[in-house]
Amino acid sequence: MLRQLGLGDEDQAAWEASGLPASAFEDWLTDRVARRPAGDRAREVYGADDAHDFARRAILDVLALGPGDRLLELGCGGGLLLRDALATGAAATGLDHSEDMVALARERAPGAEVVLGRVEAPPFADDAFSAVAMSIVLMFLPGPVAALRECRRVLEPGGRLAVYTSAPELRGTPAAPEPIASRAHFYEDAELLALAERSGFASVAVACDDGGQLLTALRPRT
Ligand SMILES: C[S@@+](CC[C@H](N)C(=O)[O-])C[C@H]1O[C@@H](n2cnc3c(N)ncnc32)[C@H](O)[C@@H]1O
Repeated sequence: MLRQLGLGDEDQAAWEASGLPASAFEDWLTDRVARRPAGDRAREVYGADDAHDFARRAILDVLALGPGDRLLELGCGGGLLLRDALATGAAATGLDHSEDMVALARERAPGAEVVLGRVEAPPFADDAFSAVAMSIVLMFLPGPVAALRECRRVLEPGGRLAVYTSAPELRGTPAAPEPIASRAHFYEDAELLALAERSGFASVAVACDDGGQLLTALRPRT
């Protein structure tokens, strides 16, 4: 299974060194590849320009960042969205719970602030950002409403949210293969809308294209 997902000897050695029982293998693999990426192969994948470039473009297009914006990306992976946000003149902050991804994002986006932390408890003040983004992260969160409420808390009134995730039709396809698919949440468009509304967002919309969903919303001004 390691080889099928493109993993190599270093990953094999990391699994053997983990000391985990065989029953934990699929969870470990999901972390290693996507949920908390680690190792040389993860650095190569998430540091490459084509890493989720479709999601990055969709988020950047809709946020239309510019000088004066303060972007927070939760689950920033290799930092390419942060890099492209900085190029617009915006300030950019990233957060990830993978030490390898935090180190990579600091390399890829010098000029961004990148912190090690959890999406569920971002260590930022209320109203600190004008935009918040998540790219291929929401699907891994056990508490999506709590996470979206944190997004709302750190956004200034009128601040923009953009979240890119995958629809159920992609479950089990090469875009979202097993065993990762069984450990991720694939929301219908209507479920995404409801999650954002329950989290206190306004002007909520979902655009779906070939199974890629872009959720957009605003923090209400009052
Ligand atoms: C599939 S990767 C996507 C990375 C990047 N956003 C992209 O689109 O290429 C998911 C990222 O979210 C991070 N992540 C997942 N759950 C997290 C959590 N609860 N707190 C912080 N980071 C999390 C992972 O470590 C990983 O870097």
